[in-house]
Amino acid sequence: MKAVILYDSGYGNTKAIAEAVASGLGTGARAVPVDGFEPGSIQAGDLLVVGSPINGWRPTPAIVRALGDLAARGLAGVKAAAFDTRLKLFIHGDAGRKITRALEGAGASIIGGPMAFYVKGTEGPLLTGEESRAAKWADDLADAAK
Ligand SMILES: Cc1cc2nc3c(=O)[nH]c(=O)nc-3n(C[C@H](O)[C@H](O)[C@H](O)COP(=O)(O)O)c2cc1C
Repeated sequence: MKAVILYDSGYGNTKAIAEAVASGLGTGARAVPVDGFEPGSIQAGDLLVVGSPINGWRPTPAIVRALGDLAARGLAGVKAAAFDTRLKLFIHGDAGRKITRALEGAGASIIGGPMAFYVKGTEGPLLTGEESRAAKWADDLADAAK
């Protein structure tokens, strides 16, 4: 199974989680920055994980655009999940759930999540243990994708 972890990242924290998910999934998985993403590279049978920082209560504009491009092509037969990175705030908004809804609306089968990973401040760092939590989540996704 091919797995793509599509991400956007302002300061590298979402990138670090995307890479932890990719290495947790193992061979055939790669983290792809949204700038270099080719929507046509996703095919039925693939696992697509999409991650974004929460920026102003929602995913980044680049991730929203990529989701629009994916929806235009359709994601039938694609397994998918989403995550976001965020601050521990009382009111933080959401990106993972919005991405999940968009993936589902595009026809993907949601196999896990949405998951939230936490940063200490706007520029990071990730809270201790978040990368290992991401690797553990990758194990769950691999099981669910079987
Ligand atoms: C413009 C901007 C808006 C943000 N809005 C939110 C928000 O609404 N809720 C939240 O929890 N974090 C918010 N954050 C903090 C981001 O979640 C944090 O910077 C991000 O998780 C870091 O990941 P990155 O290094 O991949 O960009 C915001 C950050 C920026 C720069």
